[in-house]
Amino acid sequence: MQDKSVTNREGFTSNIGVIAATLGSAVGLGNIWKFPYVTGENGGAAFILVYLICVTLVGLPVMIAELMIGRRTKRNAVEAFEQLAPRKPWFLVGVAGVISAFLIMAFYTCVAGWVYAYIFKAATGSISSTQTKVTSAIFSSLSKSVAQPLFWQLLVLLVTGAIIMTGVTKGIERVTKILMPILFLLLLVVDIRSLTLPGANKGLNYLFNPDFHKITVTVILAALGLAFFKLSIGMGAMITYGSYVSDDQNLPATALTVMLSDTLVSIMAGVAIFPAVFAFGIKPDAGPSLLFITIPAIFSAMPFGNVFMVLFFILVSIAATGAMLSLLEVPVAFMREKLNWSRAKSTVATVVGIALVGSTATLSNSILANVLVFGKNLFDFYDFVTSNILLPLGGIFIALFVGWFWGYQNVKQEFSNHGELSNDGIHKIYMFLVRIVAPIAIIIVMLAGLNII
Ligand code: PHE
Repeated sequence: MQDKSVTNREGFTSNIGVIAATLGSAVGLGNIWKFPYVTGENGGAAFILVYLICVTLVGLPVMIAELMIGRRTKRNAVEAFEQLAPRKPWFLVGVAGVISAFLIMAFYTCVAGWVYAYIFKAATGSISSTQTKVTSAIFSSLSKSVAQPLFWQLLVLLVTGAIIMTGVTKGIERVTKILMPILFLLLLVVDIRSLTLPGANKGLNYLFNPDFHKITVTVILAALGLAFFKLSIGMGAMITYGSYVSDDQNLPATALTVMLSDTLVSIMAGVAIFPAVFAFGIKPDAGPSLLFITIPAIFSAMPFGNVFMVLFFILVSIAATGAMLSLLEVPVAFMREKLNWSRAKSTVATVVGIALVGSTATLSNSILANVLVFGKNLFDFYDFVTSNILLPLGGIFIALFVGWFWGYQNVKQEFSNHGELSNDGIHKIYMFLVRIVAPIAIIIVMLAGLNII
């Protein structure tokens, strides 16, 4: 019963495929759109420092925990817990993950829709301007209209849904493997342009010269939430991807590679944005619009800017797609395996669900602007609840599960691939991190950041 589809389950076919797919999930709008604007809202370098501590001490251990659970059970996020802890409430962590996937997709597809729209706007030259008043007006007119952003959001959902339907190995692996390196190179080009703008050094100073007075509990919670969002953890995406990983892969090494590369891409996005922010006199705390105001101005200030800008938004949309595939895969794998639905039916149900919730996120910039939950519009609310509450909460339970319930022997086996690898010493440090450091750190940061203590 428990093994009903294990034997004919698809999987990632190679070492590089596993890293590419996992990295494809981690690298996305989180790096290019969210990391810069959240850094800008929280004061720059000091925030980045806290972020780095969060990814290392909490993010990495939880990521490894999820990959281990997935690979061991070869199940979706819900059934993985059911299998390792039958008739215990741990499966609720998986259920919360399925819900998080819907809520994240709600605003994520909205932003991906803006990116799609910008490909076309860049191609027609209609967003080329070094005047940030102009670029910001262009962005407002897109995000604050009704039909346009809804149309792009729906297109995003159709495209990602279609890719998911073709299946794991063919769909995910192939797309991400080829395009990640190109995105990396293009970011490098944007970095160089941004760094050579007059006044760029203020931006570098903002990014790398920490002012420790700016660290507050809210800043720390934002950094922790971003770490979870960035690494695609706390909601079962990495459990699901881990379930497609073969037994001979080195999980801690994979997770470390992914974490480092993902952080590098985020920093590179910061280096692309902030020198330009200061050079063009944009406010660093402009919020979600920051990328869309800054990037057109940077490209407009360079030769062949339009061509590069089209390419840039195409690559960002592809990076976003890699992340969305992993988000969709959580509910889709659950419906297929738990409810025994076909891949097609599960995908359609998921896409329709996201379209419904997602349209409320998109319209919260226009006709639903007055609908506020805890003082936030729906877009910000979905973002806040997932990053700052659901993902860290999922992280606590995943860490506790692996550290205390599943325990030392299993971790040791997964770290060494049952004695094949010599990851031997590090599993002890790892145990300390997942058992003690990660859960306690998340609990304290959440309670303080949410004003509970
Ligand atoms: N990590 C992705 C990004 O940074 C977003 C994501 C979050 C993907 C959670 C899957 C799960 O864009």
